[in-house]
Amino acid sequence: MVVIGAKGHAIEILDVLHYNKFEGKLSFFDNVSPDKPMDPINKYMLIRTEEELKQEFKADPNFILGTGNPRLRKKLSDFCQGIGGELFSLISNQAYISPLGVSLEPGLNIMHGVKIQPMVSIGEGSLINAGTIIHHQSVIGSFCEIGPGCMITGNVRIGNNSFLGTGVKVLPGITIGENVVIAGGTVVTRDIPSNVMIAGVPGVEKKKLP
Ligand SMILES: CC(C)(COP(=O)(O)OP(=O)(O)OC[C@H]1O[C@@H](n2cnc3c(N)ncnc32)[C@H](O)[C@@H]1OP(=O)(O)O)[C@@H](O)C(=O)NCCC(=O)NCCS
Repeated sequence: MVVIGAKGHAIEILDVLHYNKFEGKLSFFDNVSPDKPMDPINKYMLIRTEEELKQEFKADPNFILGTGNPRLRKKLSDFCQGIGGELFSLISNQAYISPLGVSLEPGLNIMHGVKIQPMVSIGEGSLINAGTIIHHQSVIGSFCEIGPGCMITGNVRIGNNSFLGTGVKVLPGITIGENVVIAGGTVVTRDIPSNVMIAGVPGVEKKKLP
């Protein structure tokens, strides 16, 4: 198993793997940071090049996305799958996933303390960070990042590649577009179109995004 990334979020991924008692071979991939990885990632094999990663995937194609940032997660996922990797979901044993009609696509990171309530669906490659609660029938798109401690109430829809910062609250039935950035602490009280950044309580549009 290779974790793609070797910084902050990768440490949290390692913590979930430990908690879940993962016992296979584990390595980390980082081809951008010049510095050595920090403790405790420095105890594991570090893969630095595309060629080494390709070789590693021949032995075990599974990889876990170990970074935040929706666009980066999508880019790294495409890159790894293009050289023989298979996107793997990591779900903390300390998360609650309702047995009632939940649909989870591959490549998720569902971190400690998350609660996924009935009939929720989550698209490929999304990160649901620690302590977030997603209530009934909400739909999260692919490659979203939902920050720690968010409260997504019932029947909410969030488009692909959207980012919700720490502690965002989304009121029931709200639709959020694609490629949206919602600042930490925002309370979303109205529908949000695609490609905007919003912030505040209640959340207001601060700028358009490319
Ligand atoms: C939204 C965020 C990414 C900044 O984006 P940005 O494009 O750099 O935004 P800027 O700093 O240019 O701010 C734009 C406006 O939004 C406001 N703003 C930014 N973050 C805000 C927040 N959390 N709450 C309220 N207003 C906020 C700024 O004051 C500014 O307002 P103004 O135009 O009226 O002066 C950042 O503020 C944020 O909230 N990050 C969340 C980080 C996080 O929780 N990550 C999870 C890690 S696990």
